[in-house]
Amino acid sequence: MQDKHLNRRDALRFGGTAAVGGVAAALTGPAQATPRMRIASLADLSAGFAIDFDYPDGAAAVLVDLGEATEGGVGPNGSIVAYSALCQHMGCLVEYREATKDFFCGCHASRFDARLGGQAVEGPAPRGLPRIALEIDGDDIFATGVDGLVYGFACHA
Ligand code: FES
Repeated sequence: MQDKHLNRRDALRFGGTAAVGGVAAALTGPAQATPRMRIASLADLSAGFAIDFDYPDGAAAVLVDLGEATEGGVGPNGSIVAYSALCQHMGCLVEYREATKDFFCGCHASRFDARLGGQAVEGPAPRGLPRIALEIDGDDIFATGVDGLVYGFACHA
């Protein structure tokens, strides 16, 4: 059975996780000005596939092809989304679960719905996962911004 989750080391093989260094990220509110960064190519993804990457400024994030059109999704089927992978409760890494199309935090069992913009739907997390803005350019998928405050990152107002 094929593992459908590409971890950070695997993603490096695709050349998609260059470190974003030396840039102070402003992470509050919609459409924050964060660096544009290539994550992967469309050919690297298929339905249910997740790719870990770091964005912005080294923060854990995950790109997922949900396999169905979703609001704000990009790509040929409008099914590709990305979120911060840091739980909004206390910053643990969340894990994408294809069967339920959600992100689960194993620390205190918060759950976030990948089809509902990363909304917190269960557990102690006080808010949803910040969404990573995506852009398709040819066959490449780029991160272009963050909608929300990434856990553990200071606001640079
Ligand atoms: S850190 Fe994720 S639920 Fe507590």
